[in-house]
Amino acid sequence: MFVSGEGAPYLSGADWWRSAVFYQIYPKSFADGNGDGVGDLIGIRERLDHLQQLGVDAIWLSPFYKSPMADGGYDVADPTDVDPMFGTLDDFDALLAAAHERDIKVTVDIVPNHFSDQHPWFQQALAAGPGSPERARFIFRDGKGPDGSQPPNNWPAIFGGPAWNRVPDGQWYLHLFAPEQPDLNWDNPEVSAEFERILRFWMDRGVDGFRVDVAHSMAKPPGLPDMDLTDYTGPLTQLEDDLRFDQDGVHECLRLFRRVMDDYPHRMAVGEAWVPDDVRLARYVRPDELHLTFNFRLIEAPWSAKDFTEAIDGSLKAMAEVGAPCTWVLSNHDVVRHTTRYGGGALGQARGRAAALISLSLPGATYLYNGDELGLENVELPDEVLQDPTWKRSGYTDRGRDGERVPLPWAGDEPPFGFSTSSATWLPMPAEWGPFTVEAQLQDPQSTLWLYRRALQARRELSELHGSSFAWLQAPEGCLAYRRGPNLVVALNAGEAPVELPPGEILLSSSLIEGDKLPANTAVWLRV
Ligand code: NOJ
Repeated sequence: MFVSGEGAPYLSGADWWRSAVFYQIYPKSFADGNGDGVGDLIGIRERLDHLQQLGVDAIWLSPFYKSPMADGGYDVADPTDVDPMFGTLDDFDALLAAAHERDIKVTVDIVPNHFSDQHPWFQQALAAGPGSPERARFIFRDGKGPDGSQPPNNWPAIFGGPAWNRVPDGQWYLHLFAPEQPDLNWDNPEVSAEFERILRFWMDRGVDGFRVDVAHSMAKPPGLPDMDLTDYTGPLTQLEDDLRFDQDGVHECLRLFRRVMDDYPHRMAVGEAWVPDDVRLARYVRPDELHLTFNFRLIEAPWSAKDFTEAIDGSLKAMAEVGAPCTWVLSNHDVVRHTTRYGGGALGQARGRAAALISLSLPGATYLYNGDELGLENVELPDEVLQDPTWKRSGYTDRGRDGERVPLPWAGDEPPFGFSTSSATWLPMPAEWGPFTVEAQLQDPQSTLWLYRRALQARRELSELHGSSFAWLQAPEGCLAYRRGPNLVVALNAGEAPVELPPGEILLSSSLIEGDKLPANTAVWLRV
């Protein structure tokens, strides 16, 4: 499966995605090519060398489509065009070609649950009125109560407030996310036909795959019954048994995607499905559905060998049942960065580095989020710069996700650290990020950037890491260990005191190892 050519080895073949390292780019925050303080497609193209030297196999671009940006671009007004903020379709083609020249595959987001309220379809639905075919593309209902002034059911929106919005003629429309993101009606064949068109549009252009946004949300339960809200805790949360998500009907939508994708060789799709149960998650990657689905249990696991073990074990077993690889992820644009989750500061850095050596040594695919390789932490932003709709919709109680979306620091000693030529970046960058820049870390062989570079290179070179072979090993309290192939052992000490280092030659360690002890908050790869 690994082919060595000139330069970097390249994942080839139909199943390249099974053990690929994907790198998520949040386009507003990666690199600004036109000096307006917002990242864009030209900026990404100019920084591809960084990704090639890091050694990633593929990138995933979060939405860069035409959008009023009510939800960072996940409110799509034209899914087959580029927002001027990010550039043009020509810029996209140039980025795609430049990435392919470097043997980096390009995958893009697809957002099938909703459109922007500025999408022509929704504007037509508003104009056409109740009972029209235009309204039947969305989920419009009459309200409850004698004058219809109550929402059709009690569902909350993920960003806070009710999941229904009333239009001037008195009807209500469903929006599981912001009011600017009306949900599409997947019972209407016009909707599936439109998504087939969108998928083909991007695959015809040459993209290698998709990340399917809220892949567990397209189907709604018949009759849209009320939810039991007893355990509801507020915005950005899902209940164990949540009527808004994971309805059986979503699998029909995913099968449609797969049928379309199977017309194009070597393409893949990964699903974003926040399903708390491994077995239900595995249903998303049955052979005729998606290729991959993120395992969010590792994201949700606190820093503990026991929780990590359970998250890993549950996923490995459930995915094996359906013949799909696991998909590991520690951070993304929706969750607090893992260095911060693990305690922040020196402790968070040490644990974040150790967790990286775990996620990069497990069987399956791995997703990195831009800035993981720099050990970036979440940023405490002042109220007045917050842009995530959650902040306003939660009545200013939930600060939302801007803290993990701050632009990347590339070089220099002060903001904007080479991200842009403008100091007015779309979110402010912390003045103390000098040591975190790519430039600074390249000069320090012990930096997190060098750790990721070495780990990705070793992952390509160590054949043990390409297959599915995996066996748990006995480990002291607070630790975990596993064997990959006959000769590679990975150990993590998530406890507070050093433990005896397992025997073997150290190939890579997340912190300095002296003597025969594995320090606390450290992971190691050993040849035995
Ligand atoms: C999941 C995306 O990751 C998130 O950023 C977005 O707000 C929602 N889906 C709605 O599209």
